[in-house]
Amino acid sequence: MKTNRQTVAAVLKSLTAKLTDISDTPALDMQVLLAHVTGKPRTWLLAHPETVLTEPELAAVKEAITHLQQGIPLPYVLGHWEFFGLDFLVTPDTLIPRPETELLVERALHWLQAAPHRRSLADVGTGSGCIAISLAKHIPDLWAVATDLSLPALKVARKNAYYHEVQTRIDFLQCDLLPPHSNYLATRNHFDLICANLPYIPSSTLHQLPIYGREPSLALDGGADGLDLIRRLLKIAPEWLAPGGAIFLEIEASQGAAVLSLAYDTFNQARIRLEKDLTGSDRLVCIQTVGGNGLNME
Ligand SMILES: C[S@@+](CC[C@H](N)C(=O)[O-])C[C@H]1O[C@@H](n2cnc3c(N)ncnc32)[C@H](O)[C@@H]1O
Repeated sequence: MKTNRQTVAAVLKSLTAKLTDISDTPALDMQVLLAHVTGKPRTWLLAHPETVLTEPELAAVKEAITHLQQGIPLPYVLGHWEFFGLDFLVTPDTLIPRPETELLVERALHWLQAAPHRRSLADVGTGSGCIAISLAKHIPDLWAVATDLSLPALKVARKNAYYHEVQTRIDFLQCDLLPPHSNYLATRNHFDLICANLPYIPSSTLHQLPIYGREPSLALDGGADGLDLIRRLLKIAPEWLAPGGAIFLEIEASQGAAVLSLAYDTFNQARIRLEKDLTGSDRLVCIQTVGGNGLNME
């Protein structure tokens, strides 16, 4: 391929072919990559296919393609990814935010909007911070605690909070699920809402998946049956949840019945429901406890 005077159309055509073996969406990936490198929206590039790329732009595209061919996921190559209409920094220390998780954020947002007196959130296993930050961006008086075992992930989450100007309303804490009560501020010892997208892939399944080794195992590995962390969180959740509070848990498609059963074991008075994602797979368990005046999970 000649490297000078390459137009957007020519580059999209010739380089998309290089991604067909490594991506299910090669054309889209190539457009996203060109948008990143040129700093122009994807739609603008498609409307201006005659635009000539500069030499540095071409060099950057080629370098990115080499990384993709080495198996590095596109969001890590770009260094950022979109979630819930917002841009998030991502690194190999953070899970790449998934569109499935937008269902949890949508439901949590709806719950918070319906309960203006309930403004405390825990985001357990925050990763890039995408759940807590998206909610804080939409609910200006929300305050949140966002936890993770991974310090490098928390550093990325904190940068994202600064970027989205919500850093004063989110405490980032390194701890196992939730902090020991005695170590945490006495005034902030209950949450109206607990959201968690915890690792939920069974260890043996994870080892067979293409993402194994490409995204952090700490973010994916849910133990023998995939439910180690969800089970532990549900055990400690009652001591953290305010009366009338709610818990939204993202789950793996095959875990609906098992997580419902775990939820009923702990919250036998609660209203609990299972929700499907856009593909029709079980994806979210919603637990609405009684008490207070916050029964708003319709
Ligand atoms: C599936 S990722 C979700 C990340 C982010 N919330 C999202 O939806 O993109 C799970 C996150 O939980 C964190 N994690 C794993 N074990 C944990 C634990 N015991 N306590 C707190 N966080 C944990 C991982 O480091 C990872 O960032």
